[in-house]
Amino acid sequence: MLGLRGALVVFAVYQCVFSGVCAFPRVQSSGFGSAKHVIIFGCDGFGGMYLENATSFLPNVNKFYTDGAHTTRARDQMPSVSAPNWATIITGMGPEESGVPDNDWVPPDDNPPNVTVHALPPISGKGKIPETMWRAAKSQDSSVVVAVTESWDWIYYLVEDGIVDYNFRCMEHKPDLMFIHFLSIDEAGHAYSWGSPQYYDAVKSVDGYIGEIMTAFHTAGIYNDTLFILTADHGGYGFGHGQFDEVCMYIPALFMGPQVKKGYQISGYTTDKDFAPTALNALGLHPGEYMVGKVVEEIYET
Ligand SMILES: *[C@@H]1O[C@H](CO)[C@@H](O)[C@H](O)[C@H]1NC(C)=O
Ligand SMILES: *[C@@H]1O[C@H](CO)[C@@H](O)[C@H](O)[C@H]1NC(C)=O
Ligand SMILES: *[C@@H]1O[C@H](CO)[C@@H](O)[C@H](O)[C@H]1NC(C)=O
Repeated sequence: MLGLRGALVVFAVYQCVFSGVCAFPRVQSSGFGSAKHVIIFGCDGFGGMYLENATSFLPNVNKFYTDGAHTTRARDQMPSVSAPNWATIITGMGPEESGVPDNDWVPPDDNPPNVTVHALPPISGKGKIPETMWRAAKSQDSSVVVAVTESWDWIYYLVEDGIVDYNFRCMEHKPDLMFIHFLSIDEAGHAYSWGSPQYYDAVKSVDGYIGEIMTAFHTAGIYNDTLFILTADHGGYGFGHGQFDEVCMYIPALFMGPQVKKGYQISGYTTDKDFAPTALNALGLHPGEYMVGKVVEEIYET
């Protein structure tokens, strides 16, 4: 089957042959430029398996099910721990490409020389932090306003001055590209075990925060122009995580926003490498040069 992409390429070839003007247009992904704002809710430790049983008491997360596209079987990267996977979500690269192998990773300048020499550098450049979606956005359009709120300080290693405009309490100025990290679900998992009543209490409270943020977007008049994304870095089992199994590796990938299908179950393989390219694409920006994830095109109405 030729498909839209094939038809566009054929058209470009015809144009080239018959007009003598060989400008091959870059074929744009579905959803390109569909949103004016993107917010990624990063829910630390919220395994996909634990969401499957919980939508009935999570009214705000449930909006992604009724008004958006969802899967609870997206995959994170090994090891199924926080730093490599937040790095993946923020850079669109896996640990092999980002050079962030575990939670002990620190930016190159902080490394003792003996570690710097032997550590695997990011593919985006030795001696630098791996290129983030924030830098990729700014390098294409310096007017993009980027905001980051984190509740785990490690995230701050990836925040560069001059690239991120607002940190911590950053709802001001209607940012174009926002990332918000919630730690409490992971903390409850480690303290009381994954799937415990206390774990689900933490999930409920994060659902409440998400509701408050959605209300703020309504109030600001930008809700309809926003692509909302919800995901996690890993799941867990018992009091921990890090293993290569369903409870640790499956993460939610939820999308809601302009042109996103409603009540749609994502069937294609989705990983945490895909969020950064998808976020940039929605803003009408191309995936960063080093991103290996793909735009999750399946979520969009054609
Ligand atoms: C979800 O519910 C199913 C069916 O009741 C159960 O088998 C499974 O263990 C539950 N999963 C979690 C993570 O609680
Ligand atoms: C690296 O150097 C530090 C001090 O400079 C030392 O304490 C540490 O053991 C060294 N690590 C390795 C792996 O050689
Ligand atoms: C947002 O979209 C809904 C549903 O299409 C519509 O009812 C509402 O008026 C829109 N709000 C704004 C501020 O455009």
